[in-house]
Amino acid sequence: MPSIDTLLSELEAFGVSHDAAHTERSSRMLNITRDTGELLAVLVQARGARRVLEIGTSNGYSTLWLARAARALGGGVVTVEKAQDKFDMARANFARAQLQGVIGQLLADAGEVLRDALDGAYDLIFLDSARQQYQQWWPQLDRVLAAGGVLVVDNASSHYADMAAFLDGIRCDDRYTSCLATVGKGEFIAVKSGAW
Ligand SMILES: C[S@@+](CC[C@H](N)C(=O)[O-])C[C@H]1O[C@@H](n2cnc3c(N)ncnc32)[C@H](O)[C@@H]1O
Repeated sequence: MPSIDTLLSELEAFGVSHDAAHTERSSRMLNITRDTGELLAVLVQARGARRVLEIGTSNGYSTLWLARAARALGGGVVTVEKAQDKFDMARANFARAQLQGVIGQLLADAGEVLRDALDGAYDLIFLDSARQQYQQWWPQLDRVLAAGGVLVVDNASSHYADMAAFLDGIRCDDRYTSCLATVGKGEFIAVKSGAW
């Protein structure tokens, strides 16, 4: 079995070469950058996030960063992916990393998963999937994020126009403290008020 660090490096090289050779969006890995993974791990640790939700697994690169950090706290990650081929690739990668015990994989539409989740179920939510749907998902995202929870949204610089209303709405929400971290493709980070 490779170490997690070795697997992460392998997946980075695979993502770059694979995506360069495939123009159709649905067949690309579209992984976060390494510095985004490092940021996610720091946020999980800083928040003490034992209950993490990821929307948009792809082949599991970002999940590995989240899961390793959550495991160190005795927690775990639920990750949602609607594409069977990506779900299968991620499952193989989680097994190689021996992290399958702390990762719950759902092959599902994220909107349905959010609807079924309990109030305040997650300490940290990482959003990296169907940007056009984020605004529609917002009431459920807000509901399932625990008090003091952290929402991280990828592509907040690279694809700001796709989710401007969503991001600006959170910025103007008095219950949230937010910033744009110029890491990777732009990481929007919002912390929900309240004690944890
Ligand atoms: C940008 S990729 C995720 C990359 C991954 N977070 C990483 O960094 O390794 C987005 C993924 O979201 C999935 N997706 C898109 N819409 C979805 C939805 N409504 N529900 C669940 N997954 C969805 C896509 O199939 C795709 O694999």
